Amino acid sequence: MTITAQNPFRTRAESILTNLRDTGQYKQLQMIEGPMGPVTTLRGHGECLNFCSNNYLGLAHHPEVVEAGISGLSAYGAGTASVRFICGTFAPHEILEHTIARFLGVEAAYTFVSCWNATEAVFPTLAEPGDAIISDELNHACIIDSVRLATVIKKGVHKFVYHNNDMDALRGALTRARNAIDDDHAVWVVTDGVFSMEGSLANLPAMRALCDEFGAVLVVDDSHGTGVMGKTGRGTHEHHGMSGTDIDLFTGTLGKALGGGAGGYIAGPKFAIDLIVQRARPTLFSNALPVTVACSANKAIEILMDEPQRVQKLRDNVAYARKQIRAAGFEVLDSPTAICAIIVGDTAKAISMSKRLLELGVYVIGFGYPVVPEGTARLRIQLSAAHETAHIDSLVEALKKL
Ligand SMILES: Cc1ncc(COP(=O)(O)O)c(C=O)c1O
Repeated sequence: MTITAQNPFRTRAESILTNLRDTGQYKQLQMIEGPMGPVTTLRGHGECLNFCSNNYLGLAHHPEVVEAGISGLSAYGAGTASVRFICGTFAPHEILEHTIARFLGVEAAYTFVSCWNATEAVFPTLAEPGDAIISDELNHACIIDSVRLATVIKKGVHKFVYHNNDMDALRGALTRARNAIDDDHAVWVVTDGVFSMEGSLANLPAMRALCDEFGAVLVVDDSHGTGVMGKTGRGTHEHHGMSGTDIDLFTGTLGKALGGGAGGYIAGPKFAIDLIVQRARPTLFSNALPVTVACSANKAIEILMDEPQRVQKLRDNVAYARKQIRAAGFEVLDSPTAICAIIVGDTAKAISMSKRLLELGVYVIGFGYPVVPEGTARLRIQLSAAHETAHIDSLVEALKKL
């Protein structure tokens, strides 16, 4: 069957796309014609300073990370051609999962093809009807969808959403959740460690204390905190002086600081990871992480553990960039994270500012609805340990010209 011009799906899709183009909200994909670095080659734009990658530690093109992937490819081939529990678990998966658990100081970890998949596995697998899940309003879309899926698959899961990082609101939600469920059921609290669109930090110590008071399980997606926050890059909990076991379950990505390839994981106590291995649909019914990626990610984590100075360099860059951006007259949140958001309000304005920056040789993305709430469109500047001071100075000069 061909989709005719009158087909409702086609007319609807074309009308949405036309509207996006007319209102300046249409996203143009940029073609990158070389490796991911502080300077990146973009088709039609040439070399640009890159301030929108999650390559926080500059490991995406590190020779040893690349070499580890090539060795994995030579030794094991392109992939498992199988889901994990059939014949899809290669030795590098086991090695990587031990490394992740060791890095975070927890008992066990299990990998997925993405953090999206890992997060989508958490609540539909671990929550049961009668449980309550409490989620921060600014949590990443994968958490939102995981909670939604759990409430659909496990009918009778209660959902509560609290105002961003507001501990009084969380206490209120915990009280309501405890009143709504009986003592045989679990309460889950889930948050991003670093809020990806704000660059702000979750108040994990206060959340831990509240979870202990109400007997709740604390789940943290630290995709933007891992490799970035804390003296040794363990993540947002380390920044707050907490240990890995102070967080009940981590989810995280291998697609940002930890090599930037792809992949995600769940990490925590062995019994919880065992249940994920036995029951999580994203790995029971979907292929394993490609072995090249597993080998590269493992090498990236080893480099991070051996070279904590990379985290310090990132921290220095973050402090310098925030100071200079502010001095140039822009308002940015005072935060130690590598995400610096400049709120501009209107989506079309954010997109046109990012276009102008690209003309000036600086690659920064403008985010609007539906990635962020309507009216809060922003430029999101992301720092890396691979940036030099001169790169940051050039960014600030370009910002001044906007
Ligand atoms: C907070 C957070 N969680 C999860 C993800 C998804 O990670 P992945 O690309 O590994 O699916 C992202 C990616 O943007 C993220 O920012």
